[in-house]
Amino acid sequence: MISCKGKSELLKMERAAVIVQETLAECAAACVVGATTEDINQVAASGIATRGGKAAFPGYRGYPKHICVSINDEVVHGIPSPRKRLREGDVIGLDLGAIVDGYFADAARTVTVGKVSDAAKKLLLTTHAALLAGIEAVKVGARIGDIGAAVEAVGRRAGYGVVREYVGHGVGTALHEEPQVPNYGPGGKGKLILEGMTLAIEPMFNLGTANTKRDSDGWTVRTTDGKLSAHFEHTVVATKQGPVVLGFGRYVAETEKIVYGPPSIAEYPVALRAGAVA
Ligand code: MF3
Ligand code: CO
Repeated sequence: MISCKGKSELLKMERAAVIVQETLAECAAACVVGATTEDINQVAASGIATRGGKAAFPGYRGYPKHICVSINDEVVHGIPSPRKRLREGDVIGLDLGAIVDGYFADAARTVTVGKVSDAAKKLLLTTHAALLAGIEAVKVGARIGDIGAAVEAVGRRAGYGVVREYVGHGVGTALHEEPQVPNYGPGGKGKLILEGMTLAIEPMFNLGTANTKRDSDGWTVRTTDGKLSAHFEHTVVATKQGPVVLGFGRYVAETEKIVYGPPSIAEYPVALRAGAVA
């Protein structure tokens, strides 16, 4: 069963998503040379707590930390550690979830440490562009496969490995709800998108192969060829007027201020923008 959310539920998810975006901004600003990924975890933990949210990841299937921090060839689910130190040129995936009054939001972003290669910059921009393309496909009456087809087309055009082993998902009263939202097609197939469906769309693109392997820690996913990977994610609600991305003050039902379509980079919290590609 795929659940559709009403206004009061969506407002809770929006509050959770704002906490995620603001905290991600603080985490992005903390991604500096010499910081450890455990330092980033501390920023995530206090960022969520001081805003009155609850972290969604600790204890999820036994996950031990508040945020996933995935460095370079790590695709997703990197576990923060005081022994992992950030270096100039690193590409860092930050994936964070928060809960407000029982409602979840999930978002991710990839940021850079110091100067990175042009290939890395292009990978980040393209993966973000694919997320936006996937969001645009969230139309009432379209199908889940249309989202994946839109995402995949952007990745293939650039010649990237489009990760298939991990997918987006419904999100709401749990971190992972039905349906699965793959980053590949075919379009025109899969469940119908209905009003009030809340989906976490999360493309993962690699400079080389799409194939991944999991570390012996049971979590960290990395590319099998050791090449760079990037990951962006938003929590999105399907409305009759189009997709609304949560976490940017775009869904504020009391004031009828609802802004449709994805946010541009310019709308991201300042520190998050600063941590984005130059
Ligand atoms: N956004 C990630 C996902 O949907 C969150 C992983 S949750 C964790 O897979 F707790 F396992 F880290
Ligand atoms: Co997710």
